[in-house]
Amino acid sequence: MLSYRHAFHAGNYADVMKHVVLTALLRYMTRKDSPLCFVDTHAGAGGYDLQSDYALKNEESNLGIGKLWYVKDSPEPIAAYLELIRQFNDGDQLLRYPGSPWIGAQLLRAQDRLMLCELHGSDYPLLQQTFKRDRRVHCFAEDGYRFSKGLLPPAERRGLILIDPSYELDGEYETVMATLVALHRRFSTGIYAVWYPILDDRRTALLRQCVDKAAIRDVLNLELTIADREIHPGMYGCGMIVVNPPWTLREEMKLALPWLASALGQCNSSGFRIEQWVAE
Ligand SMILES: C[S@@+](CC[C@H](N)C(=O)[O-])C[C@H]1O[C@@H](n2cnc3c(N)ncnc32)[C@H](O)[C@@H]1O
Repeated sequence: MLSYRHAFHAGNYADVMKHVVLTALLRYMTRKDSPLCFVDTHAGAGGYDLQSDYALKNEESNLGIGKLWYVKDSPEPIAAYLELIRQFNDGDQLLRYPGSPWIGAQLLRAQDRLMLCELHGSDYPLLQQTFKRDRRVHCFAEDGYRFSKGLLPPAERRGLILIDPSYELDGEYETVMATLVALHRRFSTGIYAVWYPILDDRRTALLRQCVDKAAIRDVLNLELTIADREIHPGMYGCGMIVVNPPWTLREEMKLALPWLASALGQCNSSGFRIEQWVAE
C-alpha cells in the first residue's frame, strides 16, 4: 500500500531542481525534428492545486517555487522553467504547480509520445483525467520499474526516461539502480534522469557504487543542498543522476545550480555539485 502523495510536496525545492533539469533536457531534445519518447516511470498526478489541504499542510512550495515566482531576472535555464510554471498558472497568482507529465506534454511536439506510469489508486485517475484529450499521452496504472522495461527501446529510437520515485520502500535505492541498469541494457542511447533525496552520505555513496559497478558510461551527477544537515533531520538536498546528458547540460547547470542554491538556500552551507561520475 503506497502512502506517499506528491500533492504534499508539489513545488518544493526538490521539484524545482528536478523540473529545471527536465526542462533543460527536453528543450535540448526537441531541437531536432525527429520524434522522441518521454517515459515517466513515477508520474504522479500530473498537476497540483497549491491551495489544497495537502499542499497547505506543510506549505512546502513556499520554500520552493514560492521564492521564485516574482523573480524577473534569472539565468536562461531557470527562466525557461519559470515560463512553464507561469503558463500552467495562467495568471499573476501562483495557485497551481505542474508535475513532470505536464511539463513534458508542454515541451513535446505533435510527433512525440509520453508514456506515464503511476501506481497510486488516487493519483492515477487524476493523471488520466489531465491527459484524456491528448493523444500523444499514454497512462498506465502499472509498476513503473517493471512496466518501463517493456517500453524500451522506443520505436522512435530517441527517448528520455525520468525515474522519480518516492523512496518509501526498503531497498528502493537498489531497485532504482537495478532498473536503471536493466533499462540501459535495453536502450543504451537513451537519456536517463534519476532523482534522489539527499538524506545522508551513506545512501548517496550507495548510488555511486551502483553506478561504478554498472557498465554505464557518461554519467553526470548534479546536487543541490538547501538546508543545514545538522539542524534538519530529514532531506537537506536532492540530486539527479543523468546518463548520456546532452553536451549543453553541464554548462546550463553551471548557471542554474549556483543560482538556485543562493535563491532557495535556507542556511549558509547551501550549495551545489556538478560532477562527471563516469566519463563518456
Ligand atoms: C515523487 S512522485 C512523482 C512526481 C512526478 N514525477 C513529478 O515530477 O511531478 C512519485 C510517484 O510515484 C508513485 N509510485 C510509487 N511507486 C510506484 C511504482 N512502483 N510505479 C509507479 N508509480 C509509483 C507515487 O504514487 C508518486 O505519485
